[in-house]
Amino acid sequence: MFYLIGLGLCDEKDITIKGLEAIKGCSRVYLEAYTSILMIEQSKLEEFYGKTLIVADRDTVETDSDAILDGADQVDVALLIVGDPFGATTHADILLRARARGIPTEVIHNASIMNAVGACGLQLYNFGQAVSLVFFTENWKPDSFYDRVAENRRLGMHTLLLLDIKVKEQSEENLARGRKIYEPPRYMSIPLAISQLCEVEATRKEGILDPESTLAISMSRVGGGSQQRIVAGTLSQLGKQDPEVYGPPLHSLIIVGKRLHPLEVEYANSFAIDETWKRVAKDVYGVSDE
Ligand SMILES: C[S@@+](CC[C@H](N)C(=O)[O-])C[C@H]1O[C@@H](n2cnc3c(N)ncnc32)[C@H](O)[C@@H]1O
Repeated sequence: MFYLIGLGLCDEKDITIKGLEAIKGCSRVYLEAYTSILMIEQSKLEEFYGKTLIVADRDTVETDSDAILDGADQVDVALLIVGDPFGATTHADILLRARARGIPTEVIHNASIMNAVGACGLQLYNFGQAVSLVFFTENWKPDSFYDRVAENRRLGMHTLLLLDIKVKEQSEENLARGRKIYEPPRYMSIPLAISQLCEVEATRKEGILDPESTLAISMSRVGGGSQQRIVAGTLSQLGKQDPEVYGPPLHSLIIVGKRLHPLEVEYANSFAIDETWKRVAKDVYGVSDE
């Protein structure tokens, strides 16, 4: 059997009982380590699961998946995914490959950032398409996300922005020279994300992400209990906060749409930097809790 098992969002104890039982019976257990991270060390997982984990990078999962699947028709093999296997990740490919080789498969789900963002108080029903924001470089500043946010905003929908993760990346020079030297992992932070959004707004000038009148909610380490941090305000306010406010990765950002209920404004107000949250909700979004 080939298992695809979601680990949830925070630590070793977020695995489901079903997932843990499957792992215990596996001959090989891979940990997918490039689309998300847990808030604990790999050794904690190994101790709790009683298994040594084989770290699977993007190359292994996407181009060398046969190595993961080898023997899975005879013994049990698992690939562990932080969050949910289908939550903002594309692991359908390895399942299709397994099925093509006649290997039985099973997916064991878990919480994902895609549903846990509900912690900010906005109704998940009113989220539009989620978008990914990638690290800009000097010569590469892809801005198609702006059109997606615009489409959502036209319908009054909220946008969940997932922020780029760079793990095991080569610098352009090392890539060009064929040197297998990797840069340290990088996780996009809220302040960097907001500065990139403002840069694109300044170029496109369509007012979709106007810093003063756009409400946004930052979500750090969602599902992490006391480590979780949510901050609500205008884009401009969030961009001016000390980076310490958001703390270590992972971070996500919500651009608030106009389909807001007064109760949602009230709920998220407990995360607001100041009264600007309520003022903009009333004056710009037309929603008041009074
Ligand atoms: C490609 S998605 C992977 C999602 C994962 N499979 C899941 O179901 O949650 C990774 C991005 O989601 C966001 N993310 C994941 N977990 C998060 C968390 N606990 N708190 C805040 N953002 C998170 C970050 O923006 C991160 O870069």
